[in-house]
Amino acid sequence: MEDNLPVNVREYQELAKKALPKMAYDYINGGAEDEHTLRENIAAYTRIILRPRVLVDVSKIDMSTTLLGYTMRSPIIVAPTGGHKLAHPEGEKATARAAASCNAIMVLSFSSSCKIEDVASSCNAIRFYQLYVYKNRNVSATLVRRAESCGFKALLLTVDTPMLGRREADIRNKMVFPRSGNLEGLMTTDDHDTDIEWLKSITSMPIFLKGIVTAEDVEAGVAGVIVSNHGARQLDYAPATIAALEEVVRAVAGAVPVLVDGGIRRGTDVFKALALGARAVMVGRPVFFGLAARGEAGARHVIEMLNGELEVAMALCGCRSVGEITRSHVMTEGDRIR
Ligand code: FNR
Repeated sequence: MEDNLPVNVREYQELAKKALPKMAYDYINGGAEDEHTLRENIAAYTRIILRPRVLVDVSKIDMSTTLLGYTMRSPIIVAPTGGHKLAHPEGEKATARAAASCNAIMVLSFSSSCKIEDVASSCNAIRFYQLYVYKNRNVSATLVRRAESCGFKALLLTVDTPMLGRREADIRNKMVFPRSGNLEGLMTTDDHDTDIEWLKSITSMPIFLKGIVTAEDVEAGVAGVIVSNHGARQLDYAPATIAALEEVVRAVAGAVPVLVDGGIRRGTDVFKALALGARAVMVGRPVFFGLAARGEAGARHVIEMLNGELEVAMALCGCRSVGEITRSHVMTEGDRIR
């Protein structure tokens, strides 16, 4: 096995499928209803063409970028995904160590299997925390306080989940999601509520809004916006995120960084997202698949592979730094029609 390591994310997905019980694999892999958006999240990337520049000295490639003043080795962040113990007994502690060893920021999910405190003490790294705001404010307030005192640096408020999307594989499998390790002793209901002002009043952590796909939903007064359709697990027929990115980037007009997630499986996808205006990207399922296939080493390898692919894409497009990746390095379907 170790002699025969996967060479791309797709191969990790195949290994994960073999390693996991069907119910767990379907939970991770699945999307809402017809899974149109799930396919489109990936397919929309394939319709964007790269426009390389070759007459550039690319002997040195610097993939580093900054977010909120933190320097990252590359613009790849681990997206918040719940329930990592479904993939590996070490759960999010293993994922956190993998991300830290790549100097990548990990966003810990509200629905993590491991406790916030256990993930924080598993390794030293910059971490963000993802939150839902429940009508019962105590739950969110308690979690925010815990994340803050564990040294988490920012909050991602997920705003696309007032109700859970219909994931039919989970319905068919009678999937019961294990209760989050963080909710012991806390009463929760399914009622979500989005009150950004309230959240700002209880924390000094910067707040990103996660789950925006239209210009209309761009709000002032947040630290950043994340173009996301929750990995196509919420509203089917929502736009592929890479197709929605430019609209949101235009609406934000440089006021704050814009991130994007959904369907990123290749370094070239990261490159395309940056060319269309994203400061950084987040990757969900690929890291989960790596964790399922080979534990911490697999999650690390997935991040490293994507970094390696991005480096090649940058070099072959003639970009020595992420700042040199521009809109003119890609051609979208819209550009071809014009
Ligand atoms: C998610 N996602 C998610 N988002 C969030 O804000 N809180 C959460 O707890 C979860 N949980 C979760 C579980 C699983 C199994 C998946 C696949 C996704 C969405 C996640 O943050 C991200 O938006 C997508 O995963 C990005 O798409 P890709 O990279 O998986 O295609």
